[in-house]
Amino acid sequence: MIELNKIKKTVAWSALKYICPGTVVGVGTGSTVSYFIEALSTIKHLIHGAVSSSCYSTKILKQFGIPIYDLNTISFLKTYVDGADEINPDMYMIKGGGAALTQEKIISSVADTFICIIDESKKVKKLGSFPLPVEVIPMAYSYVSNELIKLGGIPKYRKNVITDHGNIIIDTYNLQINDPVSMENKINSLPGVVTVGLFTLRTADIVLVGTKFGVDVIKNK
Ligand code: A5P
Repeated sequence: MIELNKIKKTVAWSALKYICPGTVVGVGTGSTVSYFIEALSTIKHLIHGAVSSSCYSTKILKQFGIPIYDLNTISFLKTYVDGADEINPDMYMIKGGGAALTQEKIISSVADTFICIIDESKKVKKLGSFPLPVEVIPMAYSYVSNELIKLGGIPKYRKNVITDHGNIIIDTYNLQINDPVSMENKINSLPGVVTVGLFTLRTADIVLVGTKFGVDVIKNK
């Protein structure tokens, strides 16, 4: 565990060199990103501030004295830095372990460059071992759950979690994600679904992979 945290910290700090001075930085959510925020605070005098993907990250950013920007008030976002729960060789990801998938998808869609910071356990050949998170409007819980069962999944209500938008999370186990693009579109088109945690339309541009030996850099073609 200590070793894993060390790897997460190393990979998070390595993302600093991709941050351009004089810009607002998009910031994701998760334990790896929390290390990144700590790193970002060391260059806070060089950046304008951050757009945050969650109340959780906002709190940490504020603790470090990094100004928060509303996404609607900025015209350009150079870089978005975030983790992932799984990533495959096409750079498709499962995200949402931290329940911030909707904001993460919005901010990453706006950003010019998505830098994904992970430890190597997140690299998979096929997506789906990690239960796929779906943010759902509460009244649609039963309907969406039944539709996820029709897709072959086993939906589970994430207990004690209300998203920053007042919605619920359904974690979907056992899905065979053979075609991630089509799965993202199918689930996103269900009424009541706010966002599915599949990221195939917005993939990572650069993946920084923390290992016991250092940081590997993978660039999307
Ligand atoms: C947050 O909603 C997720 O998309 C995170 O990016 C993901 O859970 C990674 O978290 P860790 O950095 O804690 O592994």
